[in-house]
Amino acid sequence: MTVETALFDLTDRTVLITGASRGIGFAMAEACAAHGARVVLNGRDPATLAAKVEALTAQGYAAEAEAFDVTDEAAAIAALDRIVSRHGALHGLIANAGVQHRVPVLDFPTEDFRRVVETNLTACFVLGREAAKRMVATGGGAIINTVSMLGPITRPTVPAYIAAKEGLRALTRAMAVELGDRGVRVNAIAPGYVATEMNTALIDNQEFNAWVVGRTPLGRWAEPKELGGAAVFLLSPGASFVSGHILSVDGAMSVAV
Ligand SMILES: NC(=O)c1ccc[n+]([C@@H]2O[C@H](COP(=O)([O-])OP(=O)(O)OC[C@H]3O[C@@H](n4cnc5c(N)ncnc54)[C@H](OP(=O)(O)O)[C@@H]3O)[C@@H](O)[C@H]2O)c1
Repeated sequence: MTVETALFDLTDRTVLITGASRGIGFAMAEACAAHGARVVLNGRDPATLAAKVEALTAQGYAAEAEAFDVTDEAAAIAALDRIVSRHGALHGLIANAGVQHRVPVLDFPTEDFRRVVETNLTACFVLGREAAKRMVATGGGAIINTVSMLGPITRPTVPAYIAAKEGLRALTRAMAVELGDRGVRVNAIAPGYVATEMNTALIDNQEFNAWVVGRTPLGRWAEPKELGGAAVFLLSPGASFVSGHILSVDGAMSVAV
């Protein structure tokens, strides 16, 4: 193997990707699997996950499923324990599961605020803490949190999402600083507008669609698979000295005025 390919080789790494039943999470899982990782796909529906696992194994990749709700702490811990007992270690976690809820701030229900923060922030804390404990015990690992271009910059109607994702950026830095000397790197990926199910309503809205295309220097929405390279990089030996970093994958939208 050449130096260049070894840099991004994930052979023998076991990686759990939450929210991998579709969209960005599945695309990241496929990219990691294509680079040699054994990927564990998470989502809430076992049947959907089984079909996605089948799609990966049919390509010759190592894939399996762990269905659980990321906000269920006991279920998340049980899944991590099963993974470690099956494979001896967990080398990577991509905490990617997330939900959106769009309502004007003055009408935004408290229970929806709590649900979005529970899923997009608190669950990432619990999974990150529990994954890191197991990584520390087995020689280290790498954690990636999926944040968003939104957070430092914002829009109307998404106050819970903004608060959670900005909190997750801060948590990424906090965990990177505290876990560096224990062999765990912690980074985040910040996608711009990606054509996934989460954005179906926005893609179907002609005015919003035109705004995204016009406002993004690369002139289009991202495809989910365009997030795969960032995930592979941050998990790989090529990123061995990269920690506490937020990697934007947004077609330069966040730096355009
Ligand atoms: N799309 C974008 O433009 C964009 C931009 C910036 C950031 N992001 C972030 O990227 C991540 C993925 O977004 P996406 O666009 O791929 O969304 P998506 O197509 O709606 O997929 C969301 C994924 O999260 C899973 N999920 C949701 N709640 C869950 C829960 N409580 N427990 C377990 N899994 C759960 C879903 O699985 P099930 O429904 O099958 O359980 C699904 O696999 C999210 O964190 C999102 O905030 C997306």
